[in-house]
Amino acid sequence: MTDPLRVGLLGLGHIAQTHLAVLAAREDVTLDFTVDPHVPEGPSFRGEQAPHHRSLADALDKHDPDLMVIATPVPTHVDLAAEALTRTGARVLVEKPIVHDLAALDRLRAMDEDGVAAVGERLCTAHHFAFSPEVRWAEETIARYPEWGPVTQITSAFNDPFVLRGPEVFETYVSSWMDGGVNQLSLLARFVDFTELLGGEELDGRASAWYTFAFDSRGHRGTARLRTNWLTGASSKESVLVFAESGVELWIDHTAMTGFAARGRELLERFGTDGRTPRIIAHYQPLYASLLSDAPDPILSFDTAARITRLHRGSAPGPG
Ligand SMILES: NC(=O)c1ccc[n+]([C@@H]2O[C@H](COP(=O)([O-])OP(=O)(O)OC[C@H]3O[C@@H](n4cnc5c(N)ncnc54)[C@H](O)[C@@H]3O)[C@@H](O)[C@H]2O)c1
Repeated sequence: MTDPLRVGLLGLGHIAQTHLAVLAAREDVTLDFTVDPHVPEGPSFRGEQAPHHRSLADALDKHDPDLMVIATPVPTHVDLAAEALTRTGARVLVEKPIVHDLAALDRLRAMDEDGVAAVGERLCTAHHFAFSPEVRWAEETIARYPEWGPVTQITSAFNDPFVLRGPEVFETYVSSWMDGGVNQLSLLARFVDFTELLGGEELDGRASAWYTFAFDSRGHRGTARLRTNWLTGASSKESVLVFAESGVELWIDHTAMTGFAARGRELLERFGTDGRTPRIIAHYQPLYASLLSDAPDPILSFDTAARITRLHRGSAPGPG
């Protein structure tokens, strides 16, 4: 038996509850501490109250974690990640999107190039939608049917009821495109290689967006249309992949975690779950299993996060 991994959790808001639930169910981790300047005490973890701090600096004076999880508003990610990486030797899992702008990405890249903090090996991003069951099913199904040919077009629409949460939602998530676009690019990267941003814009005061991208699929160039929207009272997320050469369409519903493939009137493949695992837990359970394995999925890597960020912000994808 090796000692359990000591985890420090930064930010005790909405998504922290999912991290805590998934971590509590793993025997190989223990909660070392939590940090949140706006929360008076730590959460109950396996029936005990975790040590809590109001700042990361205070926490790191007292703790020596193996893994830190950053689940704070997007604009705070870069400062907290830099502090965590320079003050400890721990791995750092940052919630998506890793950064709010390209200058913040450049700062982390520079740290990596300096070689001081081994950013490339230690810094990971929680691209959780890429672990959703319907996404993994679609990836496996596409691999099983090379005769379907290349993906020629993708349409993805992500709706979140964030208009109901008021203006402060922009402080945490920045914009609909910042939040939903990174989820779309990271999950669709399971199927195709994005090559460039073709165009698009943020709309409705950044509460919605429309962007198009070029991608490579089995040596062919295709186009993706990505729609994100917060102006709704309900959550609904779906992606449709078209294989024009064979006439196949593959639909994946990220809200229901279901999918099917069809050609004309014929149903080719179908996917559902037993409905027992809540959606967000179904993302983070396999994410942590991969992160804490001997060979973490490259979708979690800093290189992938950097590539997605450059695509998302409209800069040249570059290597990696
Ligand atoms: N809510 C979701 O469903 C969801 C899903 C996936 C990813 N995310 C990502 O997780 C992150 C947090 O989102 P959320 O919905 O939990 O936000 P939230 O506003 O509910 O929680 C953020 C928490 O971080 C705390 N915080 C702020 N500054 C801090 C600091 N310097 N140190 C420590 N704590 C600090 C706040 O007090 C708050 O409790 C964002 O990056 C978001 O994109 C959220």
